[in-house]
Amino acid sequence: MEKEMVWGPQMFKDHFENTTNNSIILSALEDRKFKFYMSELHLKKTDVFLDAGCGYGRLAKAIKADVQHVIGIDINPDNVEFSKQYVGAGFEGHVVDLSKGILPFKDKSIDKIVFDNVLMFFDEKTQWAIFKEVKRVLKSDGKLAFNFENSEYTFNGLARFFISLYKFKAKLQGNATPVHHKYSLSFYERLLAELGFGKDIKSIGGTFYKKMGLGPIEVLPVFLHSYIAKLDARSFNTPKKRKMAGITVSVSAQ
Ligand SMILES: C[S@@+](CC[C@H](N)C(=O)[O-])C[C@H]1O[C@@H](n2cnc3c(N)ncnc32)[C@H](O)[C@@H]1O
Repeated sequence: MEKEMVWGPQMFKDHFENTTNNSIILSALEDRKFKFYMSELHLKKTDVFLDAGCGYGRLAKAIKADVQHVIGIDINPDNVEFSKQYVGAGFEGHVVDLSKGILPFKDKSIDKIVFDNVLMFFDEKTQWAIFKEVKRVLKSDGKLAFNFENSEYTFNGLARFFISLYKFKAKLQGNATPVHHKYSLSFYERLLAELGFGKDIKSIGGTFYKKMGLGPIEVLPVFLHSYIAKLDARSFNTPKKRKMAGITVSVSAQ
């Protein structure tokens, strides 16, 4: 896996906040995704919550208001250090490379796990290894939520074109760009079923059209970007979500 060398925690935080705050649609999508996490996870004060791929601690900080013990893991030590300061007391941070497919936690020791904007970095074999580990470390009444970039996305051809332009630009600048693997909702439904997760899989569509600079978005013309974001917003919880840029899922451990 190539690391996000261009994205230090402060830069990611500034960029994320600027782009979502400057767009009503984008902040609404982000808000709806967050509300989905909150309504599906049934957080309890006593929960042990794992923010996997925590970045600068964005989700961990929000969750910390409701949960005493929040753990953040990330491959980037700068992110882990930044999150410790940013989230504050009750946050435990560890440097973990998820691509190794190992979660360094005891069996049935965690109540809630979220992968927010992270799974696109892993190939299919690693996805299976990670989810197997999630199943092992989640308590029997635990919950998992995650989002992913959708391989059935209507504009994938266009997105691929812009990603190759973006990668070319990054290469010229000497920057590493992360690989964005895409999966379908059916892929995750099969994976979750085979690993014995609950049958209560819920999903909503449309969250990846954030102008994050991590994919095609950086080079999309503004009018196209807002048109797609509008489509995303409209199809959030309809059958059309299977064609959305991003999909968010929740499921019980069993
Ligand atoms: C797009 S950011 C999302 C951060 C955070 N979840 C959020 O939504 O604000 C992706 C995060 O995944 C982390 N990451 C990428 N590859 C990883 C790996 N192999 N193991 C652990 N974390 C990884 C990156 O360092 C980065 O913090």
